[in-house]
Amino acid sequence: MSVPQPPEPIPAARLLFSLDPAVSHLNHGSFGAVPIGVQRAQQRLRDEMEANPLRFFTQGLVDRVAHTRRHLATFLGADPEGTALVGNTTTGVAVVLQSLGLRPGDEILSTDHEYGAVTLSIQRECRRTGAESRVVAIPLAATDEEIVDAVRVALRPGRTRLLVVDQLTSATARLFPVAAIVGVAREHGVPVLVDAAHVPGMLSATVASVGADFWMGNLHKWGYAPRGTAALVVAPPWRDRIEPLVVSWEQETGFPARLEWQATLDYTSWLAAPAGLFTLRSLGVDRVRAHNAALAAYAQRVVGDALGVAPAHLPDPGGPEVAMRIIPLPRGLATTIEAARELQQRIAERLATEVAVMSWNGEGWLRLCGQVYNSPDEYERLAVRLPPLLAQR
Ligand SMILES: Cc1ncc(COP(=O)(O)O)c(C=O)c1O
Repeated sequence: MSVPQPPEPIPAARLLFSLDPAVSHLNHGSFGAVPIGVQRAQQRLRDEMEANPLRFFTQGLVDRVAHTRRHLATFLGADPEGTALVGNTTTGVAVVLQSLGLRPGDEILSTDHEYGAVTLSIQRECRRTGAESRVVAIPLAATDEEIVDAVRVALRPGRTRLLVVDQLTSATARLFPVAAIVGVAREHGVPVLVDAAHVPGMLSATVASVGADFWMGNLHKWGYAPRGTAALVVAPPWRDRIEPLVVSWEQETGFPARLEWQATLDYTSWLAAPAGLFTLRSLGVDRVRAHNAALAAYAQRVVGDALGVAPAHLPDPGGPEVAMRIIPLPRGLATTIEAARELQQRIAERLATEVAVMSWNGEGWLRLCGQVYNSPDEYERLAVRLPPLLAQR
């Protein structure tokens, strides 16, 4: 197995961010980081809003949002007419779930890699409607073919009203073969919601290439957009059936405006989101992707070595562009969500290093991300300092 080499740094990229230099920020995946230029773009929009709120909200805002939506959808390789801006992935998932019209006897199928808040949302919608939620287990080391087979076997046509599957999972950083999964579900007449929270900016796969009924991605993670910027892409047969969580003035306009206009909110994150893509393009989208994925691979190996994990036991993310990777923690650590949160906080406080600690199926995992503002020495330092910290239980 070849040893991953750290990538060439992208010069001065760190200076584009306002991140605290006293901290190693190795968890871009959770909440992103907004480049200074994007923060400024948003502040200019806020200044405009505060100079004349009436004019800002009543003269052209709906059109500006539509223009922004088309720009973002084009970047994602999605149909602009089928795309709606929403605040975040969690919201978009809730929009889809409550638009399905579930009834007793129906079920929603998801996997045991699903994001926790999405699982809670599925469970609540099922409780509200009398439907059931069912979870298919996918082993971490499953091949793409095995993942597709596991989903195929779990589908119950006529009963499964929605399959929810992640394009790139959060806790396990595994790329799922979503296009093939969508194909199998379609053969069985089951609609699919692809949770692509981490995809925009990180992966080159277009939304169109996935072909899902519903595709939900965050621009505010790897797309450098201000927080609160996400895109829900809906296939044509569903567009008229999608209802917003909150009815407001654009309700009668239909999809997508009825989803986007959610009364009095700060819409400046959406309007400033193209500045995030501009930053990405200025750095070079392919270059950023290659850099981040290579750095995450290096991080996994360096910290994995320090924790005594053989390279063969370091989970493969399943694709070359994945910029976050997981490392198994010593047995007994982070076996519950509470323990994982406590350990994550301990690492932040004692090592001035932000990481993600995950508890998945009763085992603890460390998730490390690579971003343009990171450098190899940050992971090398963590590799030296983490084992003694973990030894003090
Ligand atoms: C797979 C997945 N789904 C959903 C979410 C939720 O994203 P948000 O907080 O923007 O709603 C995340 C966040 O990390 C995620 O990783």
